[in-house]
Amino acid sequence: MTICRSIDHINDNLLIFRQIHQALLSWFSEAARDLPWRRVRDPYHILVAEVMLQQTQVDRVLPKYEAFLERFPTLRALAEAPTADVIRMWAGLGYNRRAVNLQRTAREIVERYGGVFPRDVATLVTLPGIGPYTAGAIACFAFEQDVAFMDTNIRRVIRRVFTDPAEMVAERTLLELAQAALPVGHSWAWNQALMELGSLICTADAPACWRCPLRDLCRDYAARRASDEYLAPAPPRKRVSERRERPFIGSNRYFRGRIIEALRALPPGATLTLNDLGPQVRPEYTPDDEAWLITLIQGLERDGLVVWNDAGVRLPE
Ligand code: ADE
Repeated sequence: MTICRSIDHINDNLLIFRQIHQALLSWFSEAARDLPWRRVRDPYHILVAEVMLQQTQVDRVLPKYEAFLERFPTLRALAEAPTADVIRMWAGLGYNRRAVNLQRTAREIVERYGGVFPRDVATLVTLPGIGPYTAGAIACFAFEQDVAFMDTNIRRVIRRVFTDPAEMVAERTLLELAQAALPVGHSWAWNQALMELGSLICTADAPACWRCPLRDLCRDYAARRASDEYLAPAPPRKRVSERRERPFIGSNRYFRGRIIEALRALPPGATLTLNDLGPQVRPEYTPDDEAWLITLIQGLERDGLVVWNDAGVRLPE
């Protein structure tokens, strides 16, 4: 942030902050998508939404969020459910470890905190699968605290609006800026609005500056308008598949997902032997591939996603 050397500087900054707050919050009140987790403040519902949204797009999360809460309507219901059911309800979301951690968090809140959801970020980050982003999001979106936190959308908007595009800015500085920029008492709407702007307008590859409510207050826009880049056509967008650094199909994560898919299809409590499981994971599987399969199963076992014993492999009950 610009270092404030005089009262005038401080007042200038306060004025700019106030203009930015007004512009973004008024845009948000008109343009916000009506998302189900924005209609509630129940911390359990917010937890489920934020964990699902960590690595999955809003459109894919919407039906899964509703179905998950129907099956596990309360924190206690989730804590008491068989883990296999939680993993089954996670189908279609990917990164299945999140399902196990979500249930571990529910169990820890029930066992250690008597079912009362912790409110402070310092406690929230100690829960399984809850990092600084999710802890901040719960504190702000469920408990309406004036807390700053950063996901990729918020980070990009804060960097573009508030920092000099020619400077490299450390993550810690961005977080301090985000904290300083909070409109005290309105941080729920502010943080939602930053996310909304980042996903609908201030996107990574093709920001739609012409319809951005912060255009005239944005340092990145000002810098690009003053340079040739503003006149140059936008670079062609890379397809998502081209942007992936390594192919997903054939990766460890892909085969882990295939194992969980095969186990999800079984009736409750049923197991699969390695010989039955192998060909379902990889059609060209032969007994020579057993060591490879076992390594994957051991990884899933460590993550609490499967149980492996003499009878075979199954989901944890
Ligand atoms: N992604 C993560 N949290 C979100 C939220 N509250 N609204 C929209 N997208 C999100």
